[in-house]
Amino acid sequence: MSERTPMIEMCNVSKHFGSVIALSDISMKVCSGEVMCLLGDNGAGKSTLIKTLSGVHSPSHGEMYLDGKPVNFKSPAYALDAGIATVFQDLAMIPLMSITRNFFMGREPTVGWGPLKRIDWKYADRIAKQEMAKIGIDVRDPSQPVGTLSGGERQCVAIARAVYFGAKVLILDEPTSALGVKQASVVLRYIAKARADGLAVIFITHNVHHAFPVADAFTLLSRGGSLGTFRKAEITREEVLNMMAGGAELESLDAELSEFQRSDQQQKQATGDGGQPLSRASNA
Ligand SMILES: Nc1ncnc2c1ncn2[C@@H]1O[C@H](COP(=O)(O)OP(=O)(O)OP(=O)(O)O)[C@@H](O)[C@H]1O
Ligand SMILES: [Mg+2]
Repeated sequence: MSERTPMIEMCNVSKHFGSVIALSDISMKVCSGEVMCLLGDNGAGKSTLIKTLSGVHSPSHGEMYLDGKPVNFKSPAYALDAGIATVFQDLAMIPLMSITRNFFMGREPTVGWGPLKRIDWKYADRIAKQEMAKIGIDVRDPSQPVGTLSGGERQCVAIARAVYFGAKVLILDEPTSALGVKQASVVLRYIAKARADGLAVIFITHNVHHAFPVADAFTLLSRGGSLGTFRKAEITREEVLNMMAGGAELESLDAELSEFQRSDQQQKQATGDGGQPLSRASNA
């Protein structure tokens, strides 16, 4: 790791829920301008880790530092004010509310004062449209409900919001899991942009094709413990795949499927079918 002061750091953090040890003695750090990919099986503690960083849970033991200063957030609002923006999976947006409302989410600009103070919707709409345009998403009408945007665009509103409000740390819990290739690439491009803008990014994903191109380092969690942090240069795509949730299962599934394919082929040859591709029929 570099010698710079990390933007966000966890030192020996544990989190217990009664007798459940969700996190045990975790140490990790992310510098500004870096993407750390958090990997691990289901139930490994990834969401608990980021919830602890973002003020949803307070750690049972250990310390956390933001830009070298110790922090202990009482609630997510404190973490957000300090510059830690988290895009929680599924909870990133309120679908029936407008793009502008979702973008500002309680921090709407106001005009007037005293009893005449009111939200400046015209300005708010303009900013929302402008910030979305910066990431290449053309929003015709920012007062339209967020539910009318595609999944990828919705995630981008959440990320644009974090960047606009000056976040130093951006945490993303599986932002690309429900997205197709094109939509995911929109989000990944924006993660790369957030890194270029100097944010420290923590990115949770189960998809090696999403993790590998944008990550600078990988931290692997297993049953609440850390198995270490690996720089990208130290590790191959296959090793990352194996570290991901279900990596080992995928490999054995692969082997099983090719076994199926082999026996299928043998059967077809035995019946004289020759195993022609199905698409031939439609080419006639
Ligand atoms: N509020 C809670 N109360 C009790 N146990 C919890 C709580 N939150 C998480 N846990 C437990 O902590 C462990 C880690 O859960 P966590 O949600 O962090 O896993 P994860 O790595 O995010 O998994 P996934 O990939 O499925 O999202 C699990 O065993 C879970 O049951
Ligand atoms: Mg989770």
